[in-house]
Amino acid sequence: MSTIASAGIQAAQPLLPEPATVAAVIRETETIRSYRLVFDDPGVMAAFSFLPGQIGLVSVMGAGESTFAISSPPSEKEYFQFSVMKTGVVTGAIHELGEGDKVAVRAPMGCAFPSDGWKGKNVMIVAGGIGMAPLRSLLLHLLDHREDYGKLQLIYGARTPADLCYAGDRQQWEERGDLDAVTTIDVELPEWTGRAGLVPAVMEESGLRPENTVAVICGPPVMIKFVLASLDRMGYREGQIYTTLERRMKCGIGLCGRCNVGPKYVCTDGPVFSLESLRGLPDEL
Ligand SMILES: Cc1cc2nc3c(=O)[nH]c(=O)nc-3n(C[C@H](O)[C@H](O)[C@H](O)COP(=O)(O)OP(=O)(O)OC[C@H]3O[C@@H](n4cnc5c(N)ncnc54)[C@H](O)[C@@H]3O)c2cc1C
Ligand code: FES
Repeated sequence: MSTIASAGIQAAQPLLPEPATVAAVIRETETIRSYRLVFDDPGVMAAFSFLPGQIGLVSVMGAGESTFAISSPPSEKEYFQFSVMKTGVVTGAIHELGEGDKVAVRAPMGCAFPSDGWKGKNVMIVAGGIGMAPLRSLLLHLLDHREDYGKLQLIYGARTPADLCYAGDRQQWEERGDLDAVTTIDVELPEWTGRAGLVPAVMEESGLRPENTVAVICGPPVMIKFVLASLDRMGYREGQIYTTLERRMKCGIGLCGRCNVGPKYVCTDGPVFSLESLRGLPDEL
């Protein structure tokens, strides 16, 4: 079993937010926007590197700081992206931002998906709603290194077509011959010609079999719960399954104890965990 990639590229000064500017805003859904950011200091931007699964803490003057998964791939050097669902004070303030507005960012933080250890294996990515954000970064990274992996499959679900993110990407993914991209909505609708059905059922029916495969899942807790039950029925073992956890964070560097799950800190031990590494911890999925 491969271990989780350590955060070898943690922000040089993890407590010091770095000024950045919004280069572009993409409306994904009614409640989700993607923000392409550029560090104001060209030297900081040039040196910025991360791996899929790592996170950033974004602060907006007067509103506060919140944690988001980086949703762009490491190969994108012009900007880095967060996809933000509006839920409260900070995310509401972020949704007010437009091109040219200023934020401050602490990134990259946390550990990444151990995708180097998956070389030669099949990878099944299972995402629901905003859970697609870290998995977009991962999928684009795997596609950048396509020859290193076996079969690649994406199963991405949302409640309705209007709740699906990354429209431009999805079209390209569906057209690729080397990726099985399955998009599903919860129930059939007259205007929807694609798959309908809940993610766990679609995965159980069409997902990659467990032999030489890792499954990576991210989505709402209820989806994760049922996906795990389906993976178990399909024959997946805990060491083949990876997920990311969300806990409210403050320091982001393992000092304040705000984000713990049992003895683990989501900010430094995670947010990426193998299911095996969570065994014995409080039921947090
Ligand atoms: C590791 C990690 C990665 C994340 N990645 C993303 C991402 O890519 N995109 C994204 O949109 N969001 C992501 N989140 C969630 C995001 O951090 C919260 O939605 C955000 O902090 C809410 O801030 P707020 O001030 O707008 O909400 P508040 O005004 O503080 O709260 C509004 C509501 O949101 C709930 N809430 C607040 N924080 C969290 C949280 N961490 N998890 C669950 N519910 C919360 C509150 O309980 C409350 O009901 C991530 C969180 C973590 C810890
Ligand atoms: S946020 Fe402070 S320990 Fe994790």
